[in-house]
Amino acid sequence: MTQHRDDERIREVRIDALAYGGDYNPDQWSEETWHEDIRLMKEAGVTMVSLPIFSWPQLEPEPGVYDWGWLDRIIDLLHEAGIRIDLATATATPPSWLLREHPEMGPWDSEGHRLEFGSRQTYCPSSPIWRENVARMTRAMAERYGEHPGLAMWHISNEYGDHVSRCWCPESARHFRRWLQHRYGDLDGLNEAWGVNVWGQRYTSWDHIETPKKAPGPINPTKLLDFERFSSDAMLELFQIEIDVLREVTPDIAVTTNFMSMFRDLDYWDFAAVEDIVTDDAYPEPADPTSHVGAALNYGLMRSLKGGRPWLLLESSASATSWRDINVPKAPGKIRVESLQAVAHGSDAVMFFQWRQAKYGQEKFHSSMLGHRGERSRSYQETKALGLELRKLEPVRGTRVRSRVALVVDWDSWWGSSAVESLPSQRLQWAQQARAWHRALHTLGHPVDTVRATGPFDKYDVVVVPNLYIAEHPQAEAVRTFVERGGHLIVGPFSGVVDATEKVHDGGAPGPLRDLLGIEVDEQWPIADGLVERIAYGSADAGHGTIDVPSWAEWIEADADVDVRGRYASGVLEGLPAVTRRRSGAGSASYVSAMLTPDGMITVFADLLRAAGLPVRDQIDVNAEAVTRSDDQTDYTFLLNHGAQPVALRLPASGIDLLTGAEAADVVELDGYGAAVVASPRAAEIPFITLTTPTAKEQA
Ligand code: GLA
Repeated sequence: MTQHRDDERIREVRIDALAYGGDYNPDQWSEETWHEDIRLMKEAGVTMVSLPIFSWPQLEPEPGVYDWGWLDRIIDLLHEAGIRIDLATATATPPSWLLREHPEMGPWDSEGHRLEFGSRQTYCPSSPIWRENVARMTRAMAERYGEHPGLAMWHISNEYGDHVSRCWCPESARHFRRWLQHRYGDLDGLNEAWGVNVWGQRYTSWDHIETPKKAPGPINPTKLLDFERFSSDAMLELFQIEIDVLREVTPDIAVTTNFMSMFRDLDYWDFAAVEDIVTDDAYPEPADPTSHVGAALNYGLMRSLKGGRPWLLLESSASATSWRDINVPKAPGKIRVESLQAVAHGSDAVMFFQWRQAKYGQEKFHSSMLGHRGERSRSYQETKALGLELRKLEPVRGTRVRSRVALVVDWDSWWGSSAVESLPSQRLQWAQQARAWHRALHTLGHPVDTVRATGPFDKYDVVVVPNLYIAEHPQAEAVRTFVERGGHLIVGPFSGVVDATEKVHDGGAPGPLRDLLGIEVDEQWPIADGLVERIAYGSADAGHGTIDVPSWAEWIEADADVDVRGRYASGVLEGLPAVTRRRSGAGSASYVSAMLTPDGMITVFADLLRAAGLPVRDQIDVNAEAVTRSDDQTDYTFLLNHGAQPVALRLPASGIDLLTGAEAADVVELDGYGAAVVASPRAAEIPFITLTTPTAKEQA
């Protein structure tokens, strides 16, 4: 099992500016081009680049024979130009000779096929050969460049799990067994935990346990869940191997690995705990006009993974990607507002994949800062303007986002409710549920932090738990304490169902949350596709009404002291409680037994936020976003318009717009994709921004 190192010391990234730039692949270009690159980077305000992420084969063309010359030269050139280096350990993909010499280090899929060389990440995370070579390469990089004055931080591997996050090979099976032995002690413990009497699954030898490869029918759910946990831990061990080498050779240099936003397969709470700074790669879908809402949640996770510390947006796209079925470009102005959104949510960087658009290979149609047309490309013109504009936001570097609402992100429940094959319905998906709940809070005007299921919750007035399928005593205790001290908790459907071994709690859901919520679930009641049930919510004169319920409902019964906020108004469940709230201590604990439509979520959350004494927007527009980053003296309120139509936002206090240098009026009118960053003296309350109607001029 993974050792979590308690390294309290946080190393700072060595850069004196907001990081601006991108992935740089000089080994795809002539040295003559390098000089042009550096000239254009300087003109575009680039302050940092990431390299040499995929260059191991160029750096060690034969076993033990290194070719550092080209990397030495480009690192020196960048440094002379004042551009900092996010230096990759070059271990994102193995050279062909390594895989040829050790085919057993290749990853296997769930049907037992070995994946071949020819793409990237062709390794099994558990392979001792791979691990040994990774440590060797990392040490060579650290010894060669660890004292280079241009080094800003170490970039370990690249997007762990992007292509291979789980491996089903014999080596992984051996590693899985060791992990299970550590978790359960002996076979009796494992047999008990896995509930092996169902379908005759009893194990009589550790050697009989394989990775959960394709089987005749549904696989033992606890085995599947443990395999998810194991696979995340196996990758974390691999990460830790590189960290250990770097800590030894370069103890003062910050380390990171770039995350993939809300990525199901790896428990980023654990990964963030062992690195110095969180970095993220974000690719909101340009074809989805509401993708900024999902981005807001992803960024809320990034800043929360290290307790609110600034993080770095290490990759994004200047326009289209090339890995979607249809790669829609970004409209003019979108690069800017999307980049400013990341900064608004706590990023001290805006970086892209990649600096210069490739001429060949898998990613030649992926946009870049410098497009195929070179300086004349729109992406260069827009990113250059952005790079220069970002200098005006220097004061926000190091400041932190203020939020009163947090959403519980729990990988165990995510895995439990998705890896397991036999569930009441496949329609209730953890991530979709989390996104739906977040969207309502976002629309009502609140930036949302994220938090583990065990807290800490003390910074927040409201904690939302979209789904906590797996709940144990520590989680229940943490939310109970939060409520008793005056917090307002809201828990979503299919929560508190099973314990950590995937066994249903005695008495059924919501298990250890039963007393706090004051309800019992008699039966989950999924709704067939195409049918919609209804909830009558609150009273019509309070602006409430009917909420549609697609996909999921529950037969619940509530204790006498529970306030029923909404009742089912159709179907077999008609008249039964649907949404409940129970006062407890100084706070309250609500339960939502159904999946709701977006409008329904807004009704429920507006009601909850008001009960918690928090403001809500009456006029709503999902495109209008406001987030405040602060230091001790100043609030920096980012006002962002993610849509093509103008919006007008009302500020509670006047201030200076850092982007224009002008005084911001009470009402700030933003053009399509417009933005303002208003600096004002720090207010006791987090500035709450409401919408108003744009003036006739703006509407014209
Ligand atoms: C990921 C990878 C990059 C590149 C981009 C393209 O983020 O880290 O190497 O492939 O995707 O969007």
